[in-house]
Amino acid sequence: MQGNTDHDLAARLAASFPTSETIPAEFRPNPTSYEKLYLQDGVVREWPGPYTEVSSPICLREGETIKRQIIGHVPSMDEEAAMAGLHAAVRAWDNGRGEWPTMSVAGRIAAVEKFTEKMIAVRDEVVRLLMWEIGKSLDDSRKEFDRTVDYIRLTVEALKEMDRNNSRFSIDSGVIAQVRRSPLGVCLSMGPFNYPLNETYTTLIPAIIMGNTVVVKPPKFGTLSHQPILQAFADSFPPGVVNYIYGSGAKIIGPIMQSGLIDALAFIGSSRAAKVLKHQHPRPHRLRSILGLDAKNPALVMPDADLEVAVRECVTGALSFNGQRCTGLKLLFVHETIVDTFLEKLSAAVNALPIGMPWDKGVKLTPLPEFNKPGAMQAYVQDAIGGGARIVNAGGGTACGTLFFPAIVYPVSPKAQLYSVEQFGPVIPVCSYRDERDFLEFVAESNYGQQVSVFGRDPEKIAKLVDPLANQVSRININAQCQRGPDTLPFTGRKDSAEGTLSISDALRCFSIRSLVAAQSTQQSRDIIQQIVAGRHSSFLHTDFIL
Ligand code: G3H
Repeated sequence: MQGNTDHDLAARLAASFPTSETIPAEFRPNPTSYEKLYLQDGVVREWPGPYTEVSSPICLREGETIKRQIIGHVPSMDEEAAMAGLHAAVRAWDNGRGEWPTMSVAGRIAAVEKFTEKMIAVRDEVVRLLMWEIGKSLDDSRKEFDRTVDYIRLTVEALKEMDRNNSRFSIDSGVIAQVRRSPLGVCLSMGPFNYPLNETYTTLIPAIIMGNTVVVKPPKFGTLSHQPILQAFADSFPPGVVNYIYGSGAKIIGPIMQSGLIDALAFIGSSRAAKVLKHQHPRPHRLRSILGLDAKNPALVMPDADLEVAVRECVTGALSFNGQRCTGLKLLFVHETIVDTFLEKLSAAVNALPIGMPWDKGVKLTPLPEFNKPGAMQAYVQDAIGGGARIVNAGGGTACGTLFFPAIVYPVSPKAQLYSVEQFGPVIPVCSYRDERDFLEFVAESNYGQQVSVFGRDPEKIAKLVDPLANQVSRININAQCQRGPDTLPFTGRKDSAEGTLSISDALRCFSIRSLVAAQSTQQSRDIIQQIVAGRHSSFLHTDFIL
């Protein structure tokens, strides 16, 4: 019976891929206008050298076969070309004397606002590329773009506020001073494939607006979605402020880090890769790292939890964008007295999720971009089954091409990989517990410390968990999934999950350092300062109030 169900589901998954005729006209891929482009030194050019094919997880059905198709090409740079991008950023920084790092805050804000308008003009193209490149649903692709634009606008407001607060002098112990935040220098910005635009920009934009110059390496999947925006950078910022490099990280990033010319590393990816990058820098004390890394966020479902809420939030938490979120729920601890009921409700909710192509109305589960991701998911499931678990939901774990129907796996033993490894995909590992201390122990032993979710109704019990958990993770979600937003809240993690804190205002701090001008409050110094301010001779030393 189960065999038939799986067979039917596999056939349904196969049928949900389009043929070349059934792709809706408005969503057909059309990246040809951005073929092999790169931005360096203020100019967008076509790359003449070797290139990489970009293949889409949206497979095409041709008779019985289902195949990924090539939707574009991006440069594959060698070390020399990547270093040229770095040197363009170094020239634009010019030891802090460049046009951009010495520009007034108002001037930098005006440039970012100009950029934002130009970026918005290519929204539809970027959204379409997000769907084709990483399989993100139309709704979520639009959200990613719009959230990024909101983030930029809020960043501008936060910088205005920061600048207003700094547009004054203080006099203390006979010392007159003005404190502002200054850029760090040259920044390397690398984002992840799951939010190729949003997560890259949540470091890129604060870095730029604070006066740094940047080298961007887009993620392996999600590169094309950056391409329509390159011209907006070229049109809005002085040459060399933003430069894009492409290619194998192993080949081009090593030399860049080893050059010692990077002052800030903004990297969202694995802790393993972050460790390599940091160690490559010859002068570690001159490198500031802002890192968003792996996580294994667990949920605790207590016996008195509202199961409707817990199931709804666990499904969203574990399966939004097919579980490919660093904030995703990656292991559920459910009290032994309610685990059977919980699993029944969870299975029903998971099996009701629509699976299909990103443009299908209401779709929740979509193709996976990473090569052989369904195979990797199946291997995790088999490993857990070897340790005594089973797949709870009908059809769970069925794969076809790049589609993988989510598997709820229970009971996952502490020896199974799914207990400790971040699966980053549509598998929901569940285990039962008797005593909340098991959950606290898991959190304490884990290599990661980003967030947890706690489901229950008893305020005293929840409070007893909050206190120790607050010393192990960076966000405790009560009766809610784990998540990053709203972007005004601090987003960080402990242990191998993060370094530095991001939020609209924290990111401005991450990419800057406080600098101050100070003088003895003598008549002579006061006169000098007065004249600098009155004559508007400095971008740093002034009392302008940005409205
Ligand atoms: O993958 C990590 C993202 O920052 C998660 O953001 O919780 O808003 O999906 P999100």
